[in-house]
Amino acid sequence: MTTRYRVEYALKTHRRDQLIEWIKGLLAVPFVLMSQPTSMFEQDKPGINEMARNAHTRYAEIMRDIEYLIADHIRNQKSGTENASKLKLLVPSVGVFFTPLPLQKAFAFQDSKRFISSRRFVAPSFNDIRLILNTAQIMSLISGGRLELATFDGDVTLYDDGDVLRPDNPCIPRILDLLRKGTKIGIVTAAGYTEAEKYYERLFGLLDAIASHDPSNAWEHHLVVMGGESNFLFTYTPRSPHKLERVEPEQWQLPEMRHWTEEMVSALLDTAEQALKDCVCNLNMPVEVLRKERAVGIYPAEKGLRLSREQLEETVLVTQRVLEMSEAGQRIPFCAFNGGNDIFVDIGDKSLGVRACQNYFGGIEGSKSLHIGDQFLSAGANDFKARLACTTAWIASPAETVALLDEIAQLSA
Ligand code: IMP
Ligand code: MG
Repeated sequence: MTTRYRVEYALKTHRRDQLIEWIKGLLAVPFVLMSQPTSMFEQDKPGINEMARNAHTRYAEIMRDIEYLIADHIRNQKSGTENASKLKLLVPSVGVFFTPLPLQKAFAFQDSKRFISSRRFVAPSFNDIRLILNTAQIMSLISGGRLELATFDGDVTLYDDGDVLRPDNPCIPRILDLLRKGTKIGIVTAAGYTEAEKYYERLFGLLDAIASHDPSNAWEHHLVVMGGESNFLFTYTPRSPHKLERVEPEQWQLPEMRHWTEEMVSALLDTAEQALKDCVCNLNMPVEVLRKERAVGIYPAEKGLRLSREQLEETVLVTQRVLEMSEAGQRIPFCAFNGGNDIFVDIGDKSLGVRACQNYFGGIEGSKSLHIGDQFLSAGANDFKARLACTTAWIASPAETVALLDEIAQLSA
């Protein structure tokens, strides 16, 4: 039993979100007790409607209880007595909450869209709960006043993996709407380039749209691009040929970044490069190694070639572990992540990236700032660290980002 448990733990822990799994377990009980999988016929309809009503009531009660547990956790967080938090006891990996979460209301909202309570064969799922948490986060941010900063991941969040932000991207009018309401925008991406031109090539649809909708130039410097997780900052200005201007590190770097020396950076990247090369050799992967100023990665040697999920996960977990155990990895923060068909190790991470954006815009608080991304698993995912800097929303595709932005507009109207 112990061995089986350990195997399951070792295999799955990096692929699970503990809070979501725990909520899923709580909702599974009323699902099992209330659902009526044997009711199939027209004459069962009244019974099924009643089942849905009852299930809704029970699910909603559970969500309300979790809402209270989170409120208690926040109280303990504020008074520095985290160990007294019951939620922490139940879900030890639970982190910081920047705002309360109105989960009961958010559940009602998502239930009216997804008909979770009406289902007889499929219990409340990981995705149901992820979306309820997103809605609760947005409701809380909006009821607390203006959303001051929205930061977006790039790949899979604003556009498909490896794609670019084209002029017909449906996120564009929605981001313009946020700018109109006074929200500052950050694109906090792993993609690490030192030249504005490269970011323009990937984001031109949005940058051109801002320029054409803002003839008076009121939005100059209201959007930034943070590249390489937390390494290169560019600010929007229509005066520049590529509509982005590099901001000098002295103007945006966080105090803790100032003591990173080139020697520390090279030592970390050397260790990471060696770990990646060992994996390439062990798993016989057809990849190239790419060393950059602030990152090292591997990507398929031929266009169209796909690495397997197992190869990617093994490589990222091994590399992360090697770095965590190394002296170099203890001196400066890093982020090893699975990019879908490549693996990168970047210096720094998105918690620093988002915090640097908050500082650049004059010190925006974490409770007024939202990071939207697709990578929130605890290992091998790069948006995860943003949870240390601000509230977050976990989306699974660019279409979900559009839906989330519509929710923001609908709930703030
Ligand atoms: P994100 O989803 O916007 O954070 O972008 C992640 C992707 O950017 C990775 O999967 C890589 O394909 C690409 N990329 C390009 N340059 C870098 C880099 O320097 N570090 C990490 N990822 C990079
Ligand atoms: Mg992404």
